[in-house]
Amino acid sequence: MPDSTSNSHRRTAVDAPGSIFGYDRLMIALAGDDPVQAIRAARCACVIDPASRRARQNLMILLRDAGRWDELRAAIPRQSRRLPPRRSHPVDLDAGVARYGRLLDAMTSRTTEGWTPSRVEDSKHRFPLDQSRLSLFRRSEVSSGTQTIPDRPPGFPALDFERLYPDYTASERLQAADLLQQQYLGLLARLYRTATPAIDFYDALVVDDDRFGGRTVDLPGLGPVTAKSLQSAYYACRIAPMLPRGGVMLEIGGGFGALAARLLALRPDVTCVLTDLPVNMVLTHTYLTSLYGDAVTGLWEDGDLPGAGHRALVVPPWRLPGLPLRADLAVNTMSFQHMDERNHAFYGDAMKALGTKWLFHVNRNEHINDPATDTMIVTAERYSFMADYEVVDRRDFDRKWIEIVARAR
Ligand SMILES: C[S@@+](CC[C@H](N)C(=O)[O-])C[C@H]1O[C@@H](n2cnc3c(N)ncnc32)[C@H](O)[C@@H]1O
Repeated sequence: MPDSTSNSHRRTAVDAPGSIFGYDRLMIALAGDDPVQAIRAARCACVIDPASRRARQNLMILLRDAGRWDELRAAIPRQSRRLPPRRSHPVDLDAGVARYGRLLDAMTSRTTEGWTPSRVEDSKHRFPLDQSRLSLFRRSEVSSGTQTIPDRPPGFPALDFERLYPDYTASERLQAADLLQQQYLGLLARLYRTATPAIDFYDALVVDDDRFGGRTVDLPGLGPVTAKSLQSAYYACRIAPMLPRGGVMLEIGGGFGALAARLLALRPDVTCVLTDLPVNMVLTHTYLTSLYGDAVTGLWEDGDLPGAGHRALVVPPWRLPGLPLRADLAVNTMSFQHMDERNHAFYGDAMKALGTKWLFHVNRNEHINDPATDTMIVTAERYSFMADYEVVDRRDFDRKWIEIVARAR
């Protein structure tokens, strides 16, 4: 940019010291050629108008593009709040494996029902879940699909159930820490952009541990995290304000319960109803029981009902329509995309039957180039049940994805 232009913006800034206008222009003019000066101008704009979210976001973008991660973290206004420490309750793994057998049998006898696996999830008819794999499920392909890089090692052979994910080598751990740091800051910045009040709890919620073999990495100032803990903490912060006091969240396809685990920490008043395919229901029940003990129950059989003190209910899909509950919010992250039209019709009906008032979902909205590895079946904009919802907030989520908040019509 010619010096005369930046000089004229500098003069504007100096002549009107109470206005961010000049610093804003200066920042935009310098952003391409002189990021250091652009960051200075953006900081001045933030000092002059601390309430300007736009000025703050400009600063955040510049710091991100310059890779100045520590400064970016400090530049996001919030007050970190703490949560009670996580607990560890005993889990009956043998009972989990036996239950899995019964759920697989139910899936076989219910093949005509609309919740059964799409072609993308077809392999879940055959996952060999036994005691040893369940005890380390976060290192086993029995949790495949629910874990992303680096929690799941890049290049680990798909559906190889005989091996477990190895420990990080020292250099892999460094690389993973870089990646996770960027993911953390990206999601934190997103919570700021969405003006989520629960942002103050984000740091407390991202902390993970190695139960069931989770491959954690320590991030400075945060502690052990995983990609899953960063993502699920983000979702928990986003949805917590959407639930009324004592409300009910229905999560469809939650993987192993990472989001529910965090929502229950943040909102002890809320009840979570969790439904999924058989292997994932067992993982979810196992994971949440280890954190919340008797507050978790499975409504496996006809006639099983929630009791007093139950805050997490794992419910087979076919039992959803008859549940004596109303759902305030249905949630689905990275899961409707793997479902087909049949599945969408089934869960659309289930959400209706439960009187679901709100829907939050994050899913892919574009095919990827290689059809052989594309695991999306229907683009997010074409889910049939969206006819029952009015979209109140729609945001891009990493370009190929969208994040939707919608209200029942
Ligand atoms: C990619 S994982 C996403 C897990 C989690 N929501 C997350 O964001 O990490 C997809 C999830 O959708 C579930 N799913 C796929 N098809 C389903 C169906 N027909 N009914 C219930 N859950 C299904 C899978 O079992 C899995 O838990």
